[in-house]
Amino acid sequence: MIIRKILFLWIFLLFAFQSVLPTSLAEQFKQAGYLEICDTQHGTATFNSLYTYFDELIEFLQTNPVWAQKLYSAKERFIRSKDRDYYSTDFFGFYDESQREGRNQISFYYSTHFHEFICSHYPEFNRVPEIIRFLQACFEIQKSYDNLFNEAAAELGLGTIFSSQHGHPPILFKVIKYFPSYSVTRPHYDGTAFSLFLDSTDNQSLLLSPYKSSFAVDDFSSPVREFPRWYNQNSILLIPGVLLTEFSIYPTPHIVAQSGKIRYATIAFAMRPNYISQKTEFASLPNFKY
Ligand SMILES: [Fe+2]
Repeated sequence: MIIRKILFLWIFLLFAFQSVLPTSLAEQFKQAGYLEICDTQHGTATFNSLYTYFDELIEFLQTNPVWAQKLYSAKERFIRSKDRDYYSTDFFGFYDESQREGRNQISFYYSTHFHEFICSHYPEFNRVPEIIRFLQACFEIQKSYDNLFNEAAAELGLGTIFSSQHGHPPILFKVIKYFPSYSVTRPHYDGTAFSLFLDSTDNQSLLLSPYKSSFAVDDFSSPVREFPRWYNQNSILLIPGVLLTEFSIYPTPHIVAQSGKIRYATIAFAMRPNYISQKTEFASLPNFKY
């Protein structure tokens, strides 16, 4: 009887202790694939106006193809500049895939260096309010997240991963508009160190799974959010991308499922400065078209 009581006490203490101990970030990524954070800096007010500016930009570029071409030329010049290496990617600027079957989305990849490049090399952009308002809104929002990425890296014991002469992580800030006909069949891994899902007008469509050696469709689900999307706060999700594999942090695959609605989303990607990607094979991802 006494032995049973001691055993019971032991089990109780073990559970009580585990619930008090904070889970490390590495363990959280391993178990859940993501960390949810309550963002009290920006909420619906900020992001809804960002999406309004984005719609104005889309309308402007679709009705003024000369400016769309000029923006594309600016991107082509930027990816040949030295600043491009800081981001270790060629994704910058405006991507209109609204008419491409399945993709049916329009996105913009913003970075501070690309923004500065446009304003200094193409001063005529400064006279187009549809372009400048959107770039300025991106600038204001993305600068809030430097610290979060630095803290996440430090927590994983990777404090120097973002070290460079720029003094902050290379952030690619992406705004996307999905159209009702959007329908992608497979999840993917992000080519980033971290991806931070900042906002979307439909959280339910984002499905993810912690990393495994093999995946089935049923492994993917929409994270249950503790924090609601409100006027002045938001639920944001941090996941690891493929650029931390050398530190035994594996990427979280994810997919935006078809919702049949217009959906806006904003994501901040933390890249690795001057990084040459190594080819790594990850577990293959299931086909969602069944
Ligand atoms: Fe992604």
